[in-house]
Amino acid sequence: MRIFFALWPPPGTARALAQWAGEAQGLTGGKATAQANIHLTLAFLGNADPARALRAARRVEASAHRLPLEEARYWRENRIVWAGPKAVPTGLNGLAEKLGIELYREEFMLERRPFAAHVTLIRGARPVRLPPLPATLDWPVNEFRLMRSSLSSAGASYEPLAFFPLSASG
Ligand code: 2AM
Repeated sequence: MRIFFALWPPPGTARALAQWAGEAQGLTGGKATAQANIHLTLAFLGNADPARALRAARRVEASAHRLPLEEARYWRENRIVWAGPKAVPTGLNGLAEKLGIELYREEFMLERRPFAAHVTLIRGARPVRLPPLPATLDWPVNEFRLMRSSLSSAGASYEPLAFFPLSASG
């Protein structure tokens, strides 16, 4: 089973991102991420034992925070259009780091690439000038999730396996 840890946006944020992606896709071509699938990956584990992932995640103590999505960018290497913050919020860096440490303690072999906070919105895109993101995108981050990913000819579908709340302060 392919599993990963991620943040899922509140419905209004997902709707606004999907709407932007639909419009931008008209310029870039490729395929926009379905609204229900929009997320930010914290750690991708691949085919792994969810029990070990759960053990690791339960030990993570991190704070709730807000995730501003200010920039729409393009990565040439994998031809994706993504949204992200101008600077990764301290709370999100802390969460990704703590999760990484606990996954390491559970002997997960993770990618050595540094954490890149990005929300993939279009795949297979052409490089074009992107329209600005809506200024009002608000993403309160109060929990993270362990997700299962299934691939089919219709694309990826994601199903939550567990939710982990973040603390309101400190
Ligand atoms: P992406 O959006 O940049 O493609 C589920 O597959 C999620 O895990 C996706 O959001 C994907 O990021 C991320 N991911 C990170 N590393 C991956 C890998 N090696 N294979 C598949 N997905 C990966």
